[in-house]
Amino acid sequence: MALNYGSDKKRAVQAKYDAQKIAFGPIMFQAALALRNLGILQLVKESESGITLEEVAEKLKLPLYGVKVLLEAGLSLEVVWAEDGKFRLTKTGWFILCDELTRVNMDFTQDVNYLGMFTLEESIKTGKPTGLKVFGDWPTVYEGLSQLPAHVQKSWFGFDHFYSDYAFPELMPVIFRNAPGRILDVGGNTGKFALQCVKYNSNVRVSILDLPGQLAKAAINIKEAGFSERVDLFPINLLDHSNPFPKDPDIIWMSQFLDCFSQDDIHGLLKRSADAMNSNSSLYILETYWDQQKYEASAYSLHATSLYFTNIANGCSQMYHSDDMRKLIDKSGLVLAEEILNVGVSHTLFICKRK
Ligand SMILES: C[S@@+](CC[C@H](N)C(=O)[O-])C[C@H]1O[C@@H](n2cnc3c(N)ncnc32)[C@H](O)[C@@H]1O
Repeated sequence: MALNYGSDKKRAVQAKYDAQKIAFGPIMFQAALALRNLGILQLVKESESGITLEEVAEKLKLPLYGVKVLLEAGLSLEVVWAEDGKFRLTKTGWFILCDELTRVNMDFTQDVNYLGMFTLEESIKTGKPTGLKVFGDWPTVYEGLSQLPAHVQKSWFGFDHFYSDYAFPELMPVIFRNAPGRILDVGGNTGKFALQCVKYNSNVRVSILDLPGQLAKAAINIKEAGFSERVDLFPINLLDHSNPFPKDPDIIWMSQFLDCFSQDDIHGLLKRSADAMNSNSSLYILETYWDQQKYEASAYSLHATSLYFTNIANGCSQMYHSDDMRKLIDKSGLVLAEEILNVGVSHTLFICKRK
């Protein structure tokens, strides 16, 4: 199933073309976004027998010049094709316009990452999320999340939730197969997972550990859903490794969480998990590992997402290789008891026990 990164068989002509795609990548990204946001792709999609530049300009009340340069760029982007002066949507254009995953990824790139990424080199050299300065002066994005501009929050949460939304329902039968009474949701964010658990099972109690800003949102969501009785909130800075986790949970749940930390901090978080667990407790780690992807599109997205962590999130974490996590699990007094592959969009679930 693994993708092969171990060779370079590309022909020179193709390699040179691909190099130009990288050289002009940011410009062409903006062109694709403008084609989508200005409604041009939608109009092209609706006109099944094709549409001229003039018709697009007139219908959308846009200058002909602008429509012309964008749609011509669209030919090279392969989001449209043209015959006899009439433009039509390609399959790639359809994905840019209609595919939820592509939309979420593009919005995340534009709203959360685009401006900050200008300082990526500085982040690499310093290990600091230098791009975050575009939004404010926080040490990591997590302290600032609840204060980011509304459209940036929308894209951040849209990106985060899109991936977990697909995974959670699929995993409920796995999580509840041994009837857990108490789950610790570490990094539980706005309470989406906790709410799914208490709706799925009428006995379980869930404790969410996260930063105060995120828990304020979780509190509203949980109260509105009527589950405040069975969901407890623990505002905590999880990076304070002297702060132990609540003892003897049936399940410790970490979803899309450990990728937010450096390997040293993951080691600290896993050790604290092991310290809190008894021989019946399990630690569930849900992650997207780049080496465990079936499709190049997934691995490409994860490699790019790592750079979001470098430049915007915290300067020190990434979307890991599964072997990075295996080594950390072993080093932290835990053993990997079960692996469930291909969960949700591109997740793997590790179920760990105490050694
Ligand atoms: C990427 S989100 C994952 C959210 C959720 N578990 C999911 O699967 O969608 C990571 C979460 O970890 C939390 N987090 C990051 N650093 C933290 C810290 N130092 N202390 C507490 N929570 C932290 C963030 O606030 C955020 O809610």
